[in-house]
Amino acid sequence: MIDTFGRSITYLRVSVTELCNLRCRYCMPEDGVCKKEHADMLTEDELIQAVEAAAALGITKLRITGGEPLVKKNIVSICRRASRVPEIREVCLTTNGILLPELARPLKEAGVSRLNLSLDTLDPQKYAHITRRGSLDDFWKGFHAALDADFQKIKLNAVLIGGFNDDEILPLAELTRKYPVDVRFIEMMPMCDSSGFGPEAYIPFTRVLEALPEAVPAAKDGGVAKLFHLPGALGNIGLISPVSAHFCGECNRIRLTADGKVKPCLHSNAEYPLKGLDFDGMKAQLEAAIFGKPQWHGDLDVAHKSGAGRNMNQIGG
Ligand code: GTP
Ligand code: 5AD
Ligand code: SF4
Repeated sequence: MIDTFGRSITYLRVSVTELCNLRCRYCMPEDGVCKKEHADMLTEDELIQAVEAAAALGITKLRITGGEPLVKKNIVSICRRASRVPEIREVCLTTNGILLPELARPLKEAGVSRLNLSLDTLDPQKYAHITRRGSLDDFWKGFHAALDADFQKIKLNAVLIGGFNDDEILPLAELTRKYPVDVRFIEMMPMCDSSGFGPEAYIPFTRVLEALPEAVPAAKDGGVAKLFHLPGALGNIGLISPVSAHFCGECNRIRLTADGKVKPCLHSNAEYPLKGLDFDGMKAQLEAAIFGKPQWHGDLDVAHKSGAGRNMNQIGG
């Protein structure tokens, strides 16, 4: 479908749970989130029906997110059923990677073609600090399981945080020389609970290029990142700049939260509920959400928190 501002909406981000086995400081409060009533969340059948309704409106790409999608017990079945919806050409998944040793192969077999993994630092102590409960060792086990499962593409996401990992831009980028993966640096977005971070935490993407003088521009891959390449590298460097250079003009996505609300934009308050609706009802709500998609999300900076009214883990990143 084409929205009011001429954008073709082909990409649905589906959050399957708000829960997570980590507590990254820019995403979630230390105590986690209040577990919502089971009855308020979409069932697997409802979720698949929502995907079918979205596909009938022109969605061809799904990204499964969370929270952490791999803590959802029926994640493999969700991916398998979603990838069988005829119009859906790609099922991708964004994860912290911790549970991949058990799940990489089943997910690949269920039709997931591409994975994005979060990795903000190469230092075990810093990893434990930023995730509050993760182990870098476990991350690497998950990463290698993903490499072994032979996904079509693996991208690593590093949220840039001033005073925390801005001294690791080069070693993180050099992972593209060692492994066939892209490494993307993301400007931190001021969400409801990215509390505790002051203005110094925000690092514009231009700092990444200063740290990588050898990087040369590379062709875009249809995603939101500007791409660069280090000589001899196996993958690209991506810069995602939602704060300093928003990509709303070319945004092709809408989102579905785990409690069944369609969000036309990551940063908007508007929500279109699907829970309990039949196929036609879901399709009508999805259509309304696409028509209700704002032209852009308004200013984002640490002083103006996102208007999303939810933390990142409750929207799906
Ligand atoms: P691919 O292009 O398929 O690789 O996916 P992606 O880059 O959209 O997905 P991923 O889940 O890895 O998200 C990377 C970063 O982009 C995260 O920080 C997201 O929060 C951010 N992001 C994803 N979608 C949007 C969006 O619509 N608006 C903004 N501002 N940020 C987004
Ligand atoms: N700003 C930017 N990126 C974020 N992510 C989570 N919270 C934020 C934030 N406040 C990233 C995660 C994950 C992706 C889905 O979103 O690191 O890679
Ligand atoms: Fe969990 Fe991802 Fe949020 Fe970290 S960023 S707490 S891994 S959902």
